[in-house]
Amino acid sequence: MLLLRDMIESDIEDYVRWFTKETEWENWDSPWETVESCEEEERKYWKEYYDSVKDLSADVTRRKYEIELDGVHIGWICYYKNLGYAENKENIPVIGLDIPCKENRKNGCGTLAFRMYMDYLKEHGYNSFYTQTWSGNLAMVRVAEKLGFKEVYRKANHREVNGKLYDAITWRLDI
Ligand SMILES: CC(C)(COP(=O)(O)OP(=O)(O)OC[C@H]1O[C@@H](n2cnc3c(N)ncnc32)[C@H](O)[C@@H]1OP(=O)(O)O)[C@@H](O)C(=O)NCCC(=O)NCCS
Repeated sequence: MLLLRDMIESDIEDYVRWFTKETEWENWDSPWETVESCEEEERKYWKEYYDSVKDLSADVTRRKYEIELDGVHIGWICYYKNLGYAENKENIPVIGLDIPCKENRKNGCGTLAFRMYMDYLKEHGYNSFYTQTWSGNLAMVRVAEKLGFKEVYRKANHREVNGKLYDAITWRLDI
C-alpha cells in the first residue's frame, strides 16, 4: 500500500544515504545543479529539517510528504512556488517528487503519489498545479502525461546534461 505521511526520525538516515551514496536519482532531478556533500553535513541538515517539521499541527498544509510503500520509505513529494524561468503570478504550487531507489520506480508509485498529493492539496484549497522537468527525463514526462498535465512553457535547449542540450518543460493541470 502506498501512503503519504509526515517525516519520522528514522527517515533522516534514508536522506543521508540518498544525498551521499545512493545518488543515481540526481542524474534525473536537476542534474545541472547537483552539489557534493558529506554524511555529516547531510545528517545535520536533515536532523534540523526534521526538528522544524516534527511538531506541525494537523491543520498546517504540508509542503512536503514522505512516500511510503508497504511500510518502506521510498521517496518524497513536495511543492515550491518559483518556476524559475517563468512567472508564477497566480502562486500555483509546482509539484516535484523523487523516488531514489530504481527498484521502486516504473510500477506506478510516482503517478499514484502525485495524484494523492494533488487530492490532498485540493482539500487545502488548491485547484491548479504546475510540474516541471527537462526533456531528457522521459519518466517524468510520462508521469505528467498520465496525469493529464498540459504543457504551458517550453524553453528550448535551456538545460545542459552530459554535454547535450535539452528543453526545460513546465506543465499545468487545473482540476
Ligand atoms: C520521475 C519518477 C518520480 C517517476 O516515478 P515512477 O514511480 O517511476 O512513475 P510511474 O511508474 O508512475 O510512471 C513512470 C512512467 O514512465 C515510463 N518510463 C520510465 N522510464 C522511461 C524511459 N526511460 N523512457 C520512456 N518511458 C519511461 C514508465 O514506463 C511509466 O510509464 P507507463 O506507466 O506508461 O509504463 C521516478 O522515475 C524518479 O524518482 N526518478 C528519479 C528522480 C526524478 O527524475 N525526479 C523527478 C524530477 S523532475
